[in-house]
Amino acid sequence: MTLYEENDLMSTNVNRGLETRLRAELDEMSEKGIHKELLYILGKQSAVVDIDGLGETINLCSNNYLGLCDNADVMRAIKDGTDKYGAGTSSVRFICGTFDIHRELEAKIADFLEVPASLTYTSAWNANEGLFAPLLSEEDVLISDRLNHACIIDGIRLCKAQRKIYEHMDMDSLRQALESSRDARHRLVITDGIFSMEGEIAPLPDIRELCDRYDAILAVDDSHATGVLGDTGRGTPEHFGMHGEVDIVTSTLGKALGGMAGGFTASSRAVVDMLIQSSRTQLFTNSLPPFSACGALAAIEHLEDHPELVTKLHENTRYYREGLEALGYKPIPGETPIVPVIIGETADAMNLSKQLLQEGVFVIGFGFPVVPRGEARIRCQVSAAHEREHLDAALAALKKVGERLHLI
Ligand SMILES: Cc1ncc(COP(=O)(O)O)c(C=O)c1O
Repeated sequence: MTLYEENDLMSTNVNRGLETRLRAELDEMSEKGIHKELLYILGKQSAVVDIDGLGETINLCSNNYLGLCDNADVMRAIKDGTDKYGAGTSSVRFICGTFDIHRELEAKIADFLEVPASLTYTSAWNANEGLFAPLLSEEDVLISDRLNHACIIDGIRLCKAQRKIYEHMDMDSLRQALESSRDARHRLVITDGIFSMEGEIAPLPDIRELCDRYDAILAVDDSHATGVLGDTGRGTPEHFGMHGEVDIVTSTLGKALGGMAGGFTASSRAVVDMLIQSSRTQLFTNSLPPFSACGALAAIEHLEDHPELVTKLHENTRYYREGLEALGYKPIPGETPIVPVIIGETADAMNLSKQLLQEGVFVIGFGFPVVPRGEARIRCQVSAAHEREHLDAALAALKKVGERLHLI
């Protein structure tokens, strides 16, 4: 079965050699069962979504952890923001792309996370990619967990600092990296707060202790933890009772906080000011659209007023994890709403995901290069938007398909 028929027109404006090679590679992916097909959602992101051609499915794969994507306050703020500020900025921040709503949102983020300052970007990808080069150079060492997010890896590649990778959440390996970097001017340790493919929480107190011992800067990408961890959703530092103990926090506005685009870096005033001066993903790309800033501000305010959303997320997570284990699945242990089940081969994970979709449950399979080879998985994500009936229906489908495929 080829994706492109022999007599499909070759594009006239793409080099023929390139087109032929790409078609062959894509066909090979298709034959191996690892070619990604995009599914089109009709309507809003929510606990149940209507997928084009498949109908209503229980959504267990969005980052809509607090269910704020279709929250009335957030949507109202976006509409009002569009009326007030128009469609976009048409400029980078330092030319004419800074609006009063950026200042208001950045003050709110800083206040929410109890840090002195913050700076927004059009995505957390951009926040991380633009973080390191302005702060560090050849005399410095960047020390990163092996399983950190791709945008951290790319950000590190764009920085001239020396690099050291420590084994995933392995404090001995981190200690060795720090020990061998004693002579550097600065050492910066960067970790995901919650690891997006594993759902594990970084051992922040241990990392902080090592950073203190070696006078290292601690940076945490809390994209999956903001709005999720801690009693009030202030993230990994709150989870461990470590308010104000992380030097730099990056995170997204595109997951729990309303699911729009946007990200930020929160830190000291000097760090933020230096990013304004020389972070390339700040200097050379448009600023966050004002309507997104309005929506994100409303999402944080909503979260502050409704900590019970975080409690519901935690309760749903416990319920779902216990339900999955009772069926005989062995998810990666943990307490976060990211609940991955390792399947092994990419094609098998994608097949499981396909069969679950046919049973009305939307869970995506991940394989290489998103996760290491041989560790393909389905990643279930729980939300405060889920009611018990959604979780029960999803578990029933997992039982049916799991037994059919001899997984449980
Ligand atoms: C840990 C982590 N950091 C950063 C990002 C990027 O977030 P954004 O969509 O805001 O660019 C993601 C998103 O997948 C993530 O999981």
